[in-house]
Amino acid sequence: MGSGAEDYQRKQAHQQQRQCQCKLNIVLLVLLTNLLTVFFLTSTNLSYYTQHFNLGLGEESATLIRELNATRDRLTASESQASGLYEKLTSTNLLVQSLLIELARLGELSDSNKFGKLENFNHALAGEVSRELGLAIGPQKLPLGYSPKTGTDEVYPAFGAGCLPYKDELAQYMSYKVGGECPVDDVFAQRLMLKGCEPLPRRRCHPKSPAGYVEPNPFPQSLWATPPDTSIIWDPYTCKNYQCLVDREKAPGIYDCKDCFNLQGRERHRWLFDNEGLQYGIDQVLGMKPPGTIRIGFDIGGGVGTFAARMRERNITIVTSTMNLDGPFNSFIASRGLVPLHLSVSQRLPFFENTLDIVHSMHVLSNWIPNAMLEFILYDIYRVLRPGGLFWLDHFFCQETQLNQTYVPMINRIGFNKLRWNVGKKVDRGQDKKEWYVSALFEKPTN
Ligand SMILES: *[C@@H]1O[C@H](CO)[C@@H](O)[C@H](O)[C@H]1NC(C)=O
Ligand SMILES: *[C@@H]1O[C@H](CO)[C@@H](O)[C@H](O)[C@H]1NC(C)=O
Ligand SMILES: *[C@@H]1O[C@H](CO)[C@@H](O)[C@H](O)[C@H]1NC(C)=O
Repeated sequence: MGSGAEDYQRKQAHQQQRQCQCKLNIVLLVLLTNLLTVFFLTSTNLSYYTQHFNLGLGEESATLIRELNATRDRLTASESQASGLYEKLTSTNLLVQSLLIELARLGELSDSNKFGKLENFNHALAGEVSRELGLAIGPQKLPLGYSPKTGTDEVYPAFGAGCLPYKDELAQYMSYKVGGECPVDDVFAQRLMLKGCEPLPRRRCHPKSPAGYVEPNPFPQSLWATPPDTSIIWDPYTCKNYQCLVDREKAPGIYDCKDCFNLQGRERHRWLFDNEGLQYGIDQVLGMKPPGTIRIGFDIGGGVGTFAARMRERNITIVTSTMNLDGPFNSFIASRGLVPLHLSVSQRLPFFENTLDIVHSMHVLSNWIPNAMLEFILYDIYRVLRPGGLFWLDHFFCQETQLNQTYVPMINRIGFNKLRWNVGKKVDRGQDKKEWYVSALFEKPTN
């Protein structure tokens, strides 16, 4: 894509040149016809003078005069013919001129039709896109023509506007053998997503298939079983098997959701007990609403999906969004028989308004998110919750000073009813860090 801009300019220049040549030809034609007219007129006048000149030499003057008279008559006739011709030519000239203008206009139109949209795309991407990328993200004509539903006759496959600043990475993502095996570029692709290039464009390749794949554990045992190592491709991760992920709990170093993969450890007890402080219990939360009225929901950044597992045991369906940050979080959740969604927090929630009974988020919504973005996220949560739906903000963390200055006013602006609110010091990184946790339960007002 590096030389794409040049190619684009060259093509533009070539096109303009062609147009110019065409116009030049027509102008030459007009000039030629004008010259011919002038020649015609002057040549008739010339013969007139020649015959005048012969006049004085003749003796049979009467005959000559007659001849002269006849010649003059013919001349007058041809003169009027010529002037008629001239008028015709003038009008033809005008016609050609207006034709030229019309041609130019049509040319511009058809150009914008043929290349316009895609070229605009390329332009936005600051270069020519590869054929595959163009196909994946460029506008495409609807086979059935104009659709009154959308008001257009074309459709754009969706991809993130956040891809535009990363054109080279996007190009790399889209270079593969069509119909072949996709490169194992999970880490690369997810980094693009996390930068805002989300959704990524679709690709026409097959993801690598794990060797020795076996059917998943049957439900409901699957909820608390570690999947077989052969169920996934390990290339993108530091660990090469599930035991390594379980052992990570005790290993030095910082990992996302470090102790999550050990389903027999801390994960086993999450949300089962309510300490009336920061830690809420699922049953206590559900107890705030009439039995059975919390049925469907969404867990933002739900790690290995244990929140969804616990809810599933209560016949509540939770979709869990999670990123594969050096661990097969999405695959793990799916192996448990739960629905993972590979979606970052940047993206608008893929749910319709007033639909979900509950939205939960632990640790993810915190002060690492830019303020403006966080406020949009909170409004989005409000949007997808049904009236009376619950938003469980679980262990939100921030600096001591940020809490009352930034986050409390922001949350108040959204307009939730506050059912529970607990604040406590976060000490896992040391007292001196002056970090605080907030756990809260909000309800979307019913009117
Ligand atoms: C030539 O034309 C003039 C005027 O039109 C006329 O007076 C004259 O008689 C004509 N001569 C002959 C020979 O026809
Ligand atoms: C979940 O649903 C099943 C089937 O309807 C029912 O037998 C079971 O008691 C329910 N479990 C809970 C915790 O409500
Ligand atoms: C925030 O404000 C509340 C109420 O005004 C106050 O009780 C609390 O101490 C403040 N918290 C912090 C961390 O400043």
